Amino acid sequence: MPYPLSLLMQHGCNIGASGSGKSNFLTSTFLQTMRHGIPVWIFDRDKQDYRHLYRINPEIMVLDAVDHLIVNPLEVHAPIGPKQHLIMFVTIFCKTNNLLDGAEALLLKAVNELYLERGIFDGGTDYPTLADLLEKLKGYVIKGGSRPAGFRDSIITRLESYLLTSPRTYSFRRGFPIDKLAEMTFVLEVKGLSERHARFVMTFLLYLLFLYRIATNQRGTGLRNLIGIDEGAWAAPPGYNDNIGHPPLASILSMARETGIGILFANQSLHVNESIFVNSRLKMVMRLGSGNDIDRARKMMALSKEQADYIPKLDVGQAIVRIPKVDPFLIRTPRIPLE
Ligand SMILES: Nc1ncnc2c1ncn2[C@@H]1O[C@H](COP(=O)(O)OP(=O)(O)OP(=O)(O)O)[C@@H](O)[C@H]1O
Ligand SMILES: [Mg+2]
Repeated sequence: MPYPLSLLMQHGCNIGASGSGKSNFLTSTFLQTMRHGIPVWIFDRDKQDYRHLYRINPEIMVLDAVDHLIVNPLEVHAPIGPKQHLIMFVTIFCKTNNLLDGAEALLLKAVNELYLERGIFDGGTDYPTLADLLEKLKGYVIKGGSRPAGFRDSIITRLESYLLTSPRTYSFRRGFPIDKLAEMTFVLEVKGLSERHARFVMTFLLYLLFLYRIATNQRGTGLRNLIGIDEGAWAAPPGYNDNIGHPPLASILSMARETGIGILFANQSLHVNESIFVNSRLKMVMRLGSGNDIDRARKMMALSKEQADYIPKLDVGQAIVRIPKVDPFLIRTPRIPLE
């Protein structure tokens, strides 16, 4: 039974042990999606599993997050408004760094001042960089040991680590334009970044895409972008800090479908934020070994005991699939030779 690509707008997740065939399934779905002219963004953190795709389609760019990505998180991309961009940046930065409300208020103030000084709210394009933001925060005279000083220092520490690990990425006032990125297929290898930093980069790019699709009023017209996140625990870790609320990826999952952005997520275990499963229409499980994970998969997919007992016996490339209003069924995915 073919699964319509348009339904990937309602996201998918695929859980399976190492070697069960997840990346192969993702690859085959990405290739089908590209064949329909739909751009795919693939975030690869661990394995360098997707760089070989360029051999099948040389138009696919393989980018290293440290060496190739150029992005200024403070650049406003028309037609997204500066106020909207400002709030998005501050929210994503604080959420992906587990920073609290006080830090958020301080960061908002600092970016707001930079935008005012540079006429960004009036359409100016002399965008500040993260280095400018760092300097601004360092210039704030705040009594040492106070709570505001703690907020300032925690933002400064994060900014310094971004600039240290990705000096080139953030050194330009203007980065890759979102209108071009939105139509491109690329693999972004986020290997060289800390988990938090990788989460920031990924979430920032996804929100930018989301705001861009909203601002250009591209709603309700089918799948426009597919986002692939393999070995995705880093992108939506379990047990996210309650004070900070839902992980940013969860907000994207719940909002993305109205703009045609579908997310296909895979991981070796169910030890990821449960918002991923809740928000995925397509749920798949490939072979799993651990009893704990099998129990959780059974719950997540509402399988009978008999069906769950089959999970450790699945062949490589086989999956039990759950979609709404249909009994769970078994599929065998084709093997995609890449290397
Ligand atoms: N449908 C399939 N039919 C035959 N062989 C397959 C199939 N899917 C995957 N394989 C083979 O099984 C091996 C593991 O596949 P894959 O890399 O997709 O697993 P994985 O679940 O992503 O593993 P890991 O968690 O370690 O990344 C590969 O050598 C691949 O070629
Ligand atoms: Mg894999």
